[in-house]
Amino acid sequence: MLSFITLAISTMLYQNPQAPVEERVEDLLGRMTLEEKVGQMNQCVGVEHFRSNMGTLTEEDLLTNTAQAFYPGLVPEDLLKLTREGKIGSFLHVLTVEEANQLQREAMKSRLAIPIIFGIDAIHGNANAPDNTVYPTNIGLACSFDTDMAHKIARQTAREMRAMNMHWTFNPNVEVARDPRWGRCGETFGEDPLLVTRMGVEQVKGYQGNLDSENDVLACVKHFVGGSQPENGTNGAPFDCSERTIREVFFPPFKAGVDAGALSLMTSHNEVNGVPAHTDPWLMTDVLRGEWGFKGFVVSDWYDIEHVHDLHRTAENNKEAFYQSVMAGMDMHMHGPEFTDAVVELVREGRIPESRIDESVRRILRVKFALGLFENPYADEKTTMDVRLCDEHRNTALEAARNSIVLLKNDGLLPLKRGRYKKILVTGINADDENILGDWSAQQKRENVSTVLDGLRAADPSAEFVFVDQGWDPRNMDRAKVNEAARAAADADLCVVVAGEYMMRYRWADRTCGEDTDRSDIDLVGLQNELIRRVAASGKPTLLVLINGRPLGVEWAAENLPAIIEAWEPGMTGGRAIAEIIYGDVNPSAKLAITIPRSVGQTRMIYNHKPSMYFHPVVVTPSTPLYPFGHGLSYNTYEYSNLRLSEKTIGTDGSTVVSVDVTNRGKRDGVEIVQLYIHDCYAQTTRPVKELKDFRRVALAPGETRTVEFTVGPDQLRYLDRKMNPIVEPGDFTIMAGPSSEDDKLLKTTLTVE
Ligand code: BGC
Repeated sequence: MLSFITLAISTMLYQNPQAPVEERVEDLLGRMTLEEKVGQMNQCVGVEHFRSNMGTLTEEDLLTNTAQAFYPGLVPEDLLKLTREGKIGSFLHVLTVEEANQLQREAMKSRLAIPIIFGIDAIHGNANAPDNTVYPTNIGLACSFDTDMAHKIARQTAREMRAMNMHWTFNPNVEVARDPRWGRCGETFGEDPLLVTRMGVEQVKGYQGNLDSENDVLACVKHFVGGSQPENGTNGAPFDCSERTIREVFFPPFKAGVDAGALSLMTSHNEVNGVPAHTDPWLMTDVLRGEWGFKGFVVSDWYDIEHVHDLHRTAENNKEAFYQSVMAGMDMHMHGPEFTDAVVELVREGRIPESRIDESVRRILRVKFALGLFENPYADEKTTMDVRLCDEHRNTALEAARNSIVLLKNDGLLPLKRGRYKKILVTGINADDENILGDWSAQQKRENVSTVLDGLRAADPSAEFVFVDQGWDPRNMDRAKVNEAARAAADADLCVVVAGEYMMRYRWADRTCGEDTDRSDIDLVGLQNELIRRVAASGKPTLLVLINGRPLGVEWAAENLPAIIEAWEPGMTGGRAIAEIIYGDVNPSAKLAITIPRSVGQTRMIYNHKPSMYFHPVVVTPSTPLYPFGHGLSYNTYEYSNLRLSEKTIGTDGSTVVSVDVTNRGKRDGVEIVQLYIHDCYAQTTRPVKELKDFRRVALAPGETRTVEFTVGPDQLRYLDRKMNPIVEPGDFTIMAGPSSEDDKLLKTTLTVE
């Protein structure tokens, strides 16, 4: 009897890897009970996560916490039971391969042995789990304008994830960041829709490959939509925005991610013009599936369906919120067991048709089959570390960090000549701290983290580095330590202050930047400004290095210090990369992917603003940003010349080749990021003063000139007319090429469309 059952099971169509995926999905769906189907739509936190929070978190905390959870009324072992019953389709926040395999073993005991898909926030490498390669966060990566690097990192991350049985990353974050107060700027690719789009697309492709090998993971474009322009800068606050801006600025990276094949998408915490995104059929069904043809599944964000009830208050209870969300197009619930019973009930009551549930389950099962989870549900615990943190990945992290660090200002102080400064003061909260890893990173082993102090010591063994520790905590700096640094500065030949924000997740409540860590100011926190001024008052050359995830308005430093480096969150090799730039072993090339405003009053200081934005400049302070989008220095100077068009006049469906010559006038090899902007001179609706339409990283030897060519045609010229239809309108367009978005640095010519 037993062998007959085994035989029957092993010959079930859905278990046959040779059978086409669609047939396997239908076969399996046909065998599932309603409870099992809804179970596939449900996600829970891992058992160890649950265990570590059940003693420390209260039920009250659960209403506001977005990173830690437990399930009141249950114990961790209940999750194992639910898994065996086939009532959990996915887990998140599982941090070890051992736990992932253990949960998978439980799933394999369920009636139909449907494997779990494990999701994790692998935002910059699978850094949220220990012992993985930590690359720069997205904002730094975007500053490299290096889309190949974005692809490569995603590919490597996918391999490291699969090596620990993770199958699904909650990245890329393709939100267009438009508020520096928002603590999540660092996990975005900045403020420009084109740059965000290109970076996001390469990450989707890099993570997913063809979604058919054991080295592929599922990508998730998030958060749909508008979380990056929250009303008061705080995470999850209302997004009140015209449909035109939503379509022109915020949608394009999502649409491109869908076109690139992303098979999951996460909705945003916020309401969109009065409707919570999690229950918005316009977003999840009309646009996503109707207009864009999205084939994957939509996952909710952390307890955000519940927040439709307890926060947004457009549902009287959770069950009603689940109803609204599923009917609007939600496929998977993050997270907790309450969803399953409620949705089963809603189907039994005839409110949700079972066919609606089937749609979601098909989308989820397709991905599980595509990823080969039915055939390979486990990862090999013995070989897991062969891939994770391997030399190839560490080297990529280093190269990415080198290319992501922006030299904001340099009055000739940098690069330092070895031996010139014998005694160097190093101080500041980020001088010798793991915080260099950035948000979305767990603590990593000390030997895997290169701090700025480590990097400097290795870069110039002949110098004496005097370190005055300011602690890690910007809010609780000790004035005695500031005094000590000021005294040490007087005795030093050069000073390096490493300032910024604090992002480490394990000290959630002490952070100043990161998820749910928003500010009403963008100046340095605590005694950091005082530290910089006191050190600089020594009269010794003082270099400021910033480690942070959001733009910081360091106006005093910009006016008074000879050099500033914006290193963002450069990851595990960050200290070494910074030191290599300081000593000129690496010639900096990165350019800002986001404007740095002077102060919080310049919150919407985006480069691609509308013409009337500064019609009346503000009084008393300048109406220009501290550093504009696209700005970034090198140890070379690059000269731009000879901007020309192959055709000066084209038809509305025609195109022209824009050429510009770029010459390296410096003494070093270097990479220049050449930027192409356009401006539509007259149009039916107001157009931004500039829009980035293309960019290229160009390597140039000293004295070398290269001609860079861009094509400008309908894709670059199109916009939405008054009725929201895409058109290319006859008229003149200013074509601009140069080293940054700053107007007087750009060469300009006119293209006429007839
Ligand atoms: C964040 C998401 C993340 C999820 C799981 C939420 O709080 O908004 O971006 O993927 O938590 O960690």
